[in-house]
Amino acid sequence: MADGPALHRALVDALVRRGAITDSRIETAFRAVPRHPFLPDVPLAEVYRDQAIPTKMVDGEAISSSSQPEIMATMLEQLRLEPGLRVLEVGAGTGYNAALMAHVVGETGTLITMDVDDDLVDGARAHLAAVGATRVQVVLGDGGLGYPDGAPYDRIILTVGAWDVAPAWWSQLRPGGRLVLPLTIGGSQKSVAFVHAGDHLASASVTDCVFMRLRGSFAGPPTRVDLGDTPNLRLYVRDPAAVDAAAAYQLLQSAPVDLRTGVSVVEREVAGSLVLWIALREPGFCWLEAIGAEADTQPVPQLYAVPGKYRSAAGVFEGTSASFFMRPPGDSASAGAEPRPFELYVRGLGEGVETGGRLLEHARAWNLAGRPGSDGLRIRALPIDVRLTAWGR
Ligand SMILES: C[S@@+](CC[C@H](N)C(=O)[O-])C[C@H]1O[C@@H](n2cnc3c(N)ncnc32)[C@H](O)[C@@H]1O
Repeated sequence: MADGPALHRALVDALVRRGAITDSRIETAFRAVPRHPFLPDVPLAEVYRDQAIPTKMVDGEAISSSSQPEIMATMLEQLRLEPGLRVLEVGAGTGYNAALMAHVVGETGTLITMDVDDDLVDGARAHLAAVGATRVQVVLGDGGLGYPDGAPYDRIILTVGAWDVAPAWWSQLRPGGRLVLPLTIGGSQKSVAFVHAGDHLASASVTDCVFMRLRGSFAGPPTRVDLGDTPNLRLYVRDPAAVDAAAAYQLLQSAPVDLRTGVSVVEREVAGSLVLWIALREPGFCWLEAIGAEADTQPVPQLYAVPGKYRSAAGVFEGTSASFFMRPPGDSASAGAEPRPFELYVRGLGEGVETGGRLLEHARAWNLAGRPGSDGLRIRALPIDVRLTAWGR
């Protein structure tokens, strides 16, 4: 029989040991607020694993979840919470993150969290009531517009992925305040902590993350092309209107040419670093993914996979030619296991030798450049009508 308090303690101990939690206020909040009241239908052993737990599915895709505790902790540290602050969260979900934040800002602070679906709002309210976090306000609304009624905020956090900084988040943040959000940058997601610096937002820290995408008015331009006759095989590109889906599907069935890069990697550095390197250099940068029970049998080279659920690879798609990074042929992904290094391969398809050769060179150049990571990134966000020459100041 699983012992909830012991499992809870062990999870927080592990987050502290791994350095995901360093701020004593965040540690106190994680120790004080259990996760299981926010996931009442999930077995305790699952609840206290360091994993994201989907809570609402549409067409086999999670549209709400309780985020992985490690990234929650990392983002809360990026947010620099203190007692008395006024905070807006976009993406209430289960309400767990809001409860943690409410614990830190305390009785003198204000915590408003919002979500787009009324069932999620009702659920978050019920979970928060169950742990006595009755001061948290849960609001139904589109977070792309922020929540002007509660502005200005000292902190705004998104626990859902954005493709750009919405004007509302900027205008509802106090000067000197912090905005932390998962932002898509060149095909990979980064959790960016921005500080409001008057006429622009300046990044204070950047780390890797994976979140579902924002819905509603600020959902961003479409990037997805469905391939084949099920919606379970998808290509994500910058200009989906330019893709002939039938031809792309055919291309995936063509005979592959596999190339060895001679570069040994772990999964994390591919997603966190190499993907951005490629996306900044290749206009045809893409992700290919298959979801659902048939994911393993779909024509997706295996870079990331959860057997029977998911498979994806990043690469370049150019209509008659496509190439993808992948694990060595026959090597299975280490889902849930300790990451172990593998030699990165490139799979070329169609007239793939050219794109394949380029990916190979990119991988080697990235390796020689020291595999630059997210922590070295510096980002400034400016309103779209500000001339870039203003950067020189
Ligand atoms: C990963 S979950 C958030 C997890 C949550 N913070 C928790 O602790 O359980 C992302 C949430 O963002 C919500 N969401 C998506 N688009 C939104 C929008 N435009 N405004 C507000 N919430 C949105 C989803 O409905 C989903 O519940």
